[in-house]
Amino acid sequence: MSGQDVDEAAAELGKRIARARRPCALTGAGISEESGVPVFRGPGGMWRERRPEDLATPEAFRRDPLEVWQWYDWRRGLIASACPNAGHRALAALEASNPAFTLITQNVDGLHRRAGSRRVLEVHGSLWRVRCTACRREADDERVPLPLPPACGACGGLLRPAVVWFGEMLSPTVFGAAWEAVKSCDLLLSIGTSGVVEPAASLVRVAAERGTSILEINPRPSALSSIAERVFPYKAADLLDRLKPAP
Ligand code: OAD
Repeated sequence: MSGQDVDEAAAELGKRIARARRPCALTGAGISEESGVPVFRGPGGMWRERRPEDLATPEAFRRDPLEVWQWYDWRRGLIASACPNAGHRALAALEASNPAFTLITQNVDGLHRRAGSRRVLEVHGSLWRVRCTACRREADDERVPLPLPPACGACGGLLRPAVVWFGEMLSPTVFGAAWEAVKSCDLLLSIGTSGVVEPAASLVRVAAERGTSILEINPRPSALSSIAERVFPYKAADLLDRLKPAP
């Protein structure tokens, strides 16, 4: 793609966003790729030849909590030394310019918050929070590296990451707010997600079923491309960096 193509695409995207009264964005791992955080599916998505579906489950944690924690600790270290990119910053700027904008993310990396987004619906939780498997107490924990396996400061029980694992329920409060947002938005940006993990992918489908325009930003086709009105086949930070700030 030439630079000109990306600039034209950014101008088109910028117009669509400026026209929307209640825009909404759903982000996935792809938005953090240009920060150096590997995506889950595709090149670089594996860790010690294990798939996320084999590690991010309650069963894997029961079987081998240390291995699961080693994976999370590795990701925490990698993310702690990464920085938010132009894509994260563009969405933070959109929030600042339009109070009706809603940002929903499947990412647990916290990079949207670090870029300045304040109203972020983290439907899969956060890597930077831990929950005690014994007393259920939740707390922020930003230590890198963690003493493994980490123990609860209150009761000494085994801590787990406060993220949603395969087979677990999403927080009804957070997911409910995301559902309401996609039902009432008039433009949905689907950014850097493969669209294969439910129920998050349904957020895009429900908006499409209501006739809302879906604009996808993803250099490769995703499971949601066919319901997108327009696919911008670019890297998210590359494209979003070219958006002109709202006048
Ligand atoms: P995936 O790893 O499944 O998909 C990443 C998507 O980002 C792919 O479609 C890539 O083509 C695209 N991509 C890669 N680089 C990009 C870039 N620079 N700009 C834009 N797009 C890019 O990640 P998710 O869809 O987020 O769940 O995965 C969904 C969930 O599966 C995650 O939240 C996680 C995982 O298991 C939990 O942690 C519960």
